[in-house]
Amino acid sequence: MVHRLAILWLALALGCAASAPEAPRPSSEQSSPPLAADPVLAELGEPVFRTYCASCHGLDGTGNGPAASALNTPPADLRRIAARRGGVFSDAEIARKIDGRFDIDAHGTREMPIWGAAFAADIPDGEVAESVTRGRLAVLVEYLKSIQVAHEPESPEATRQDMAQIFSAMAFLLPRSLDDRRFEDPEQAQAIQAALDVLDRASSALGRHGASEDASFAHLSHSLSIDARDIRIRYAEGHHREARYLVQTLTETCVACHSRLPSSSAPRSDAFVREAEQLDLSLPERAKLAFATRQFDVAADLYEKLFESRETSANDIDLNGYLADYLELEIRVHRDLERPAEALARFRQRDDLSPSLRSDVDGWIKGLRALSQRAPSGLPLDDAEQLIGDDEHMAEVEGRLVQLLEASGVLHRALAAGGLSQRDRARAYYLLGVVETRIGRSYWLSEAEAYLETAIRLAPGQPIARKAYGLLDEFLVAGYSGSGGTHVPPDLHAKLEQLRRIAEGD
Ligand code: HEC
Ligand code: HEC
Repeated sequence: MVHRLAILWLALALGCAASAPEAPRPSSEQSSPPLAADPVLAELGEPVFRTYCASCHGLDGTGNGPAASALNTPPADLRRIAARRGGVFSDAEIARKIDGRFDIDAHGTREMPIWGAAFAADIPDGEVAESVTRGRLAVLVEYLKSIQVAHEPESPEATRQDMAQIFSAMAFLLPRSLDDRRFEDPEQAQAIQAALDVLDRASSALGRHGASEDASFAHLSHSLSIDARDIRIRYAEGHHREARYLVQTLTETCVACHSRLPSSSAPRSDAFVREAEQLDLSLPERAKLAFATRQFDVAADLYEKLFESRETSANDIDLNGYLADYLELEIRVHRDLERPAEALARFRQRDDLSPSLRSDVDGWIKGLRALSQRAPSGLPLDDAEQLIGDDEHMAEVEGRLVQLLEASGVLHRALAAGGLSQRDRARAYYLLGVVETRIGRSYWLSEAEAYLETAIRLAPGQPIARKAYGLLDEFLVAGYSGSGGTHVPPDLHAKLEQLRRIAEGD
């Protein structure tokens, strides 16, 4: 109590309550506040927020402040701090983020001022300065807690509008990115830059709107917005070739996000497909583009054509991940087990499969047939756990690909349906982390990291968090091990240490 009174006094004495325009009240979205904030401290925090934070984060905290457009990184939507973390709001973490003096995530690119240094810059007495700083941080944290929106799916409409813009930008950019003369043509420069601007803006809006969906959506929309910004900047600086390559790799993120759940909407207008058809694209390029733009039926046909055509050798088809892409599409999006079993059986007839590929394909066909006979047992999480199995050996993975894909589909659907307890969400994210570390298909997207971190934050001190931490540690450290030993970068090391403490509950 003493400490609260001291903060109250400080906040008043230091004139934080200076009058500023009234902040709009949190909207109706706020009807079921997920987090209990201290009302007295939160009220004290509001004027501090308006004075110091609204210029970038906006009066309502959504990230639309007047200074936002000048920044390289979009200011975060501060109403979705918890939503971005699977419903968890950690006071200590957020205070540290705002403070900035000990921020381990910033990688030296932090665009937000180091408030821990700024709040009391003109107070000569170090001790007083420190308590002023802490007081402000404490009231800000309570205020932010009070504006969190409930952890529930965002209206699909907002997401769809962002997607429509992303789509139109990509529809313009992708075909050009596949043709270096067009992409590097000075006559096209203005139009390309404009499309990159749209892509950047819509991607960061997707990140802000969509952040409440779930941790995987949040992670993927975040990486999309970071990449889109990176591409725009590189192109503007004249690095056209890099930008062109990055536009193509961006489709991996589109696919990763779209392939999580069954498709519920009708396919979009095919204007883009028509433009793409005029290009001289290879079958896999066309399949990938169709997948990235949610032309799921078109994509499945193209993959099957690829498996039958001799344009690409069987082993290249495997090594480039096209079989896995196709299985992901059929198992998770179409939820069809018969059709891929037949397509693989035809693929198996080719005479250019290596013995090891042939045995993998046999394993997948068997797996698909077994899955289609299976009556899912009881609860989705138990079901997923059973599908994942307990084999720890990476060698087993190839044969288990279909079971792992089915398991991740079950988990994504359970999370998207909502209604899981916090403990079950922690378990679901842990299991998704297990699947992702075993499939390892999107290593560079680091989805596994995002899942495991979410599991840890959702269940501090519980066994599931310790398991998630153990796996994350193993996964990350393996990624940084080479012939010269293990070199985990210091910031990552610090982050792991922070997560370890959360997992241990201290
Ligand atoms: C100059 C613009 C600017 C101002 C002013 C600013 N921020 Fe930020 N803030 C950002 C940007 C940009 C990000 C996202 C990228 C980053 O972390 O650097 C961010 C991120 C954050 C995050 C992290 C959100 C998350 O989910 O991880 C918090 C919390 C935050 N700001 C709080 C505040 C508070 C509180 C204030 C006022 C004391 C403030 N910001 C003022 C630009 C700003
Ligand atoms: C973070 C997840 C995510 C990422 C990343 C993502 N999308 Fe989407 N996309 C969605 C969701 C959710 C929908 C809506 C699906 C629905 O309506 O059921 C959607 C819908 C679409 C649609 C259909 C829009 C409509 O009006 O029906 C297209 C086209 C599309 N996305 C293209 C892309 C492209 C191209 C990229 C990559 C540059 C991309 N998406 C990246 C989540 C994502």
